[in-house]
Amino acid sequence: MNNLKAELLRGLWYVACPSAEVKPGKTLAKTLMNEPVLLGRDSKGKAFAIKDICPHRGIPLRYGQFDGETVQCCYHGWRFDTSGTCVDIPSTHEYQTIDYSKISCGAYPVIERQGLIWVYFSESGEAPEDGRQPEPPRLPDFADEDEPKLAIMLPFVCSVDHAALGLMDPTHAAFVHTSWWFKKNATKLRPKEKHFAPSDLGWAMVRHKLPPQNIAYKLLGDEVTTEIRYRLPGLRIEHIQGDKHSVVGLTTITPIDEDKTEVRQMFWASMGWVGPFKPLLRHLMKVFLDQDRRVVIQQREGLEYNPKLMLINDADTQGRWWMQLKEEWNRSGSEAREFRNPVKERTLRWMS
Ligand code: FES
Ligand SMILES: [Fe+2]
Repeated sequence: MNNLKAELLRGLWYVACPSAEVKPGKTLAKTLMNEPVLLGRDSKGKAFAIKDICPHRGIPLRYGQFDGETVQCCYHGWRFDTSGTCVDIPSTHEYQTIDYSKISCGAYPVIERQGLIWVYFSESGEAPEDGRQPEPPRLPDFADEDEPKLAIMLPFVCSVDHAALGLMDPTHAAFVHTSWWFKKNATKLRPKEKHFAPSDLGWAMVRHKLPPQNIAYKLLGDEVTTEIRYRLPGLRIEHIQGDKHSVVGLTTITPIDEDKTEVRQMFWASMGWVGPFKPLLRHLMKVFLDQDRRVVIQQREGLEYNPKLMLINDADTQGRWWMQLKEEWNRSGSEAREFRNPVKERTLRWMS
C-alpha cells in the first residue's frame, strides 16, 4: 500500500453525485477516477456522462455550451450528442464529406436510480454487461424513484484507501467524534463483539438488534435491527429496520484521483416528517464528517514521510479485508477468472 496514493479500481460503478445536483438542460464538470467527466441531463431529463475533452484539440467541453441535446465546443464549435458522438463540424464546406459519426469524445455508461447518478469506469473499454459488475447495488426497502432525504459531500485530501480505512474503523469514534451530542468517553470503552460474513463484493456486519434505550431508534418502531455492508469500490450501506419504518444510510468514497477523494453521506428514510429537521440533521452530519476530514489532513503530515503502517487484530481486521478485496479484484481481473471473495465468516471483538 502506497501511503499517499491509492490504486484506482476499474470495472466498477461509482457514485458520481446525487441526481439533484444535475438539473435538466445543464452540465456538471467533475474529475472522477483521475479523468475529466462532463455529467449532464438532457432536456427530456435523461442523465449522461461524456469525456470532458474535445477530440479536435483537447480543450475541455465544459467551456462550451449545452443546448439540452448537444454540447458545443467553445473553440471551433464542433457539436457532440449525449452519447459523445460528433453531430456537426461547422467548418465543413458543402464540397466536403465527413462522416461525423466516426468522431467521438467518448462516453461513460450511466445508471440513475434511487436519486443517485452512477458512472461505470471500464477496465479496458468493456461494457458493464460484459464486465464483472453489470449493475450498481440497489438500496434495500426503497424504490428506484426514492431520492435521499439528505445528502452531503466533503472532499478529503487523502487516497481512497485511507478514506476507506477510516470508514470501516470501529475504534476511532471515541477519540475523533467527540461532539457533545455524540460523546463517547475514551476512558470508558466497552467491549464489542460483532459477527461478520462475506457478502456481494465485500462483507456484512450481520443483522443485530439495536439498544432499545436509544430514543432515536424508537422512532422506527419496536424490534429495531441493523445490518451494515461494505463493498467495492468503497460503499458502506447501513440498513436500519424497525416494525414501523426503515432508514438506509449510504456512505460512498469516489476517487477524484489517486490522492483525493469525494466522501458522501446520504440517508433514505420511510418517515414523511424528516423535512423540518433537515437543516439540523444536515448540520450534525457535516460536523461528524468534518471530524473525519480533519483527521486525514493531520494524518497526511506523517504519511509524507512514508512510514510503515500497521493493521491490528481485531480493530483493523475490516481494513485488512478491504485491502484483500482490492487485491483480489485486480488479480481476478488480470487472470480473467471469477472474483473469489477473500472474506471468511467470523466474529470480531474490540473495545470502543
Ligand atoms: S477544439 Fe473543440 S472544436 Fe476545435
Ligand atoms: Fe469517522
